[in-house]
Amino acid sequence: MYNYYPDELIEEIRINNDIVEVISDYVRLERKGKDYFGLCPFHKEKTPSFSVVPGKQIFYCFGCGKGGNVFHFIMNAENLEYIEAVKYLADRAKIQLPEGNEEDTNKARIRRELININTEAARFFHQNLISGKYTKAMEYLVKRGITDRTIKKFGLGFQPEEIDILYRYLKSKGYGDEPIQASGLVLPGKKGGFYDRFRGRIIFPIFDIRGNVIAFGGRVTDSSLPKYMNSPETPVYSKSKNLYSLNFAKNSGEKQIIIVEGYMDVISLQQNGIINTVASLGTALTESQGRLLKKYAEEVIISYDSDSAGQAATLRGLDILNDLGCSVRVLTVPDGKDPDEFIKKNGAEEFRKIAAKSVSLIEYKIADLKKHVDLETTQGRLSFLNKSADLLAKIDNRVELEMYSKKIADDYNISEEAILSEIYKRINKKAGNRNNQAMFREIRKDEPEQDVRKYQSIIHNERMLIAMLCIDNNIYKSVRDKIGTDFIDKENERIFKIITERIDNKSGIVPAELLNVIEGPAANVFASIIQKECNFEDTYKAVTDIIKKIENEKNDIRKQEILSLLNSKEGLSEGDVEKLKKELNSIILAKQKS
Ligand code: UTP
Ligand code: MN
Repeated sequence: MYNYYPDELIEEIRINNDIVEVISDYVRLERKGKDYFGLCPFHKEKTPSFSVVPGKQIFYCFGCGKGGNVFHFIMNAENLEYIEAVKYLADRAKIQLPEGNEEDTNKARIRRELININTEAARFFHQNLISGKYTKAMEYLVKRGITDRTIKKFGLGFQPEEIDILYRYLKSKGYGDEPIQASGLVLPGKKGGFYDRFRGRIIFPIFDIRGNVIAFGGRVTDSSLPKYMNSPETPVYSKSKNLYSLNFAKNSGEKQIIIVEGYMDVISLQQNGIINTVASLGTALTESQGRLLKKYAEEVIISYDSDSAGQAATLRGLDILNDLGCSVRVLTVPDGKDPDEFIKKNGAEEFRKIAAKSVSLIEYKIADLKKHVDLETTQGRLSFLNKSADLLAKIDNRVELEMYSKKIADDYNISEEAILSEIYKRINKKAGNRNNQAMFREIRKDEPEQDVRKYQSIIHNERMLIAMLCIDNNIYKSVRDKIGTDFIDKENERIFKIITERIDNKSGIVPAELLNVIEGPAANVFASIIQKECNFEDTYKAVTDIIKKIENEKNDIRKQEILSLLNSKEGLSEGDVEKLKKELNSIILAKQKS
């Protein structure tokens, strides 16, 4: 699963990020006995049930059940994918990550250098802004109500007017012309040399989800045009694949993300405590951006300007997100204001109120339909009826469908029957096309509940066994012959193979390292088992007991299977029956012995 980097490297990164130190950046931990406790960052609680076990380098929350090693913690806390968490912690421990081939190495080097240049430039811009030397920029931000704290949080800056002051600064830091030009921060002059791109502008650094500076936007401080200039596409920046401020929004703890048009909207909303906001960097929402949003939010609220360009962008955004399977709503700010103006005038509470009233995709689209037809004419009413029936027929949920139909009938003063009849015509037509496919639907085997519970118990015991072998690698030698090779749970089988290989080749494996090879919810379960269930005095006895339990439970299931086969006798030859009876006998004998 993770053959992206060698196992040893992943393990080196893990070992160099002490879990107590890493988590202390997020949670105030207090020592209690061997473990540390604090308030869980992953669910709301008043008394600490979040534990960190320094000896085993794992964390586990007794309240919400989240657990894992330091990689899982960072994945959860920073909302990162596994590989991104590995990179994040490699950075933290200053461990160099290799790249695949020479071309990759070269690309990685260029990317690293561009990020360094951007970071250096962002610091330069920020220092200029807060130095007090360029009052025009600071006055402008103050006039817009931007606080010092916000300036710091977003790393806002100023690029002075002097023709090549940034270029010279970057040269003085030892960067060559080629990477400086590739960063897009400077442009080549007609008579040779370079001049700075963003001269005289307030600078908005653009961060990726890991907080790297990947690009910039620059705004004039007056009404001259163009209002904004932006970095071009570079090896570290593609405007269609990033969202402004997602690095902050993803940690807001909210289930929704609000997408707005402008840098200033995001900054203003976040300054007022609405952290779950991003901006789409001056483009209509793209599919890549949609995917990013879907990853970090259960629902997206689009809040674009109410001008016609903004509304067209809203419709496109709705379709993109809806096609990606993302739940989506539209927030229209009243009186043609943008979110920044609204929140400045009415405050955060009022903004939350209008956000709570944002409308669903269907409601928005139907309201939009109405704008384009004249309901006073028969033709217009008919066209509205047909087009809204097209939209409503796509709703799978009957109750929702009828609710909307009634609402639309009321709102637009058309007959509910007429609209429902049009909708069902469309649904039935669709169903007709689909009937053939339904025949191929898989018929699910109904397993008796008792068996399901037994299977779950075996899977749990398999995990116990795996955890115990990681806690005490030495017992594996004495119990290996007793362990069956086929696991009920194929994921357990995969993990078991990995750990026994490592024990066999003498590199060994510790519990937190076991978690390196586990992603997703299974990590929580393993952390729980390690923290709560693996504290045995006699590890040998514990392990042999677990193995016995697994064996017995498997036999029980097989016994039931044989009994029901023998009962039905369907398709069994005389010989089959004999064989099954023999097997049954040996199972019963084994049970008596144990
Ligand atoms: P807006 O004009 O709504 O900007 O453009 P804004 O962020 O609200 O700024 P203020 O309130 O007028 O100061 C929305 C976004 O479109 C992009 C920028 O990303 C901007 O934030 N844009 C706009 C450009 O790239 N270039 C432009 O000239 C204008
Ligand atoms: Mn604005």
